[in-house]
Amino acid sequence: MNSYQETFDFASQYLVAGVSSAVRLSKAFGHPFYTVRGDGSRLQGIDGKEYIDLCMSHGASFLGHNNPKIVEAIKNALELGIICSHETKFHSEYAKQICDMVPCCELVRFTCSGSDATQHALRVAREFTRKEKVIQFEGCFHGYHEGVMFSTHPTLKEAGPYEKPNAVPTSGGIPEAIKNLVYILPYNDVDVLEKTIKKHRDEIAAIIVEPVGYNSGCMLAKREFIKSLRELTTENDVLLIFDEILSGFRMCVGGAQEYFNTTPDLCTLGKAIAGGTPLSVFGGKKEIMQHVKPLGRVQHSGTYNGHLFSIMAGLASLDQISSPGFYDHINNLAARLYSGFNEILQKHKIKGIIQGLGGLFGIYFGLEKEPRNYRDIAENMSSDKLMKFYKEAFKQGLYFADYGGGPAHHGFSSMHTTDDIEECLDKIDIAVSKIS
Ligand SMILES: Cc1ncc(COP(=O)(O)O)c(C=O)c1O
Repeated sequence: MNSYQETFDFASQYLVAGVSSAVRLSKAFGHPFYTVRGDGSRLQGIDGKEYIDLCMSHGASFLGHNNPKIVEAIKNALELGIICSHETKFHSEYAKQICDMVPCCELVRFTCSGSDATQHALRVAREFTRKEKVIQFEGCFHGYHEGVMFSTHPTLKEAGPYEKPNAVPTSGGIPEAIKNLVYILPYNDVDVLEKTIKKHRDEIAAIIVEPVGYNSGCMLAKREFIKSLRELTTENDVLLIFDEILSGFRMCVGGAQEYFNTTPDLCTLGKAIAGGTPLSVFGGKKEIMQHVKPLGRVQHSGTYNGHLFSIMAGLASLDQISSPGFYDHINNLAARLYSGFNEILQKHKIKGIIQGLGGLFGIYFGLEKEPRNYRDIAENMSSDKLMKFYKEAFKQGLYFADYGGGPAHHGFSSMHTTDDIEECLDKIDIAVSKIS
């Protein structure tokens, strides 16, 4: 079986829709991108062709595929005997490194996925404040558990009034009652934020926010918005949680909290922290994190938490991330890729912009200026053009995940080279010429 269709037909007999995760079934291609091997910036498809990867495991393979130091670290962990459900000295070394690098982290706990991390961060916030409701923002995404599955990319019809958006469930099976625990607000709107917090301060436990809205491409928070988030939460006894599953380590060592010079009470980290292995973190101020069991009452346990493979891969990742020149390389590639892509759109007279920060970016066909919030994107973005572009890019040997055609983040790794980026731009040029 070496054709996509044949493999997909076989898989569909046993796996729901032929995949282990819904977004892996590419709507643009009509099948998943079956891969047989990854090396650095490249993936080999089941068709034998080589593709430059601009998905990078949805941001998890920030240090490249088959990164030699991460491979070596996992081999070391393997030799210790596949240690699962045990603490080792490596766990505390890794936790110390996270605490040294990420401003808000004084104490941390390990979980397996980003969804685990946001679920526990919210649980801690509710216990600490003894309040129940949570504010989140339209266009942000915080994982797959019931508590946060609202209004990531609602249709404009579903979304409701701008100042008081509906909480639109992003999945079937979400109990109606949970809607009553969330307030959805527009991103980057300080006035609406202030009114809502002041009015409901006695019931709001926390605000959870993507400080860079990568799940809507790259919806950048305004500095005054981040500043107001910090001030208003402090003044009103509400905890501020930065969901840095994507933004952590993406543009500088301390992630978005360092970039914005704003320290939240709690944060979640994932993806880039462990070289493509399953590991995430929730952490924050000591007085808050001390509410986690067995110090406090907040349950957090799990067979696979802090699996040694991931901890060792994480140590090898942070070692590379903190080495001199790491972010010069990332930011140089970013500058060339994003400006080169924008120039290509102009050359082909395609309305659209590329917006990126650090190693992740969004493609906004149909927009002429930087989006301020999700509605700016939803009102203007051309999904059809985007899907055609992904398909043409794939024919040229470039892989973008399509996320069903909605606003999406794409990205590169530290193993991408300047030559890779030039090759990407040549291929992007051809793909864009086919859709113009
Ligand atoms: C900001 C953010 N939070 C949470 C999650 C959930 O992470 P996971 O897919 O590991 O559960 C994601 C996943 O993309 C994310 O981008």
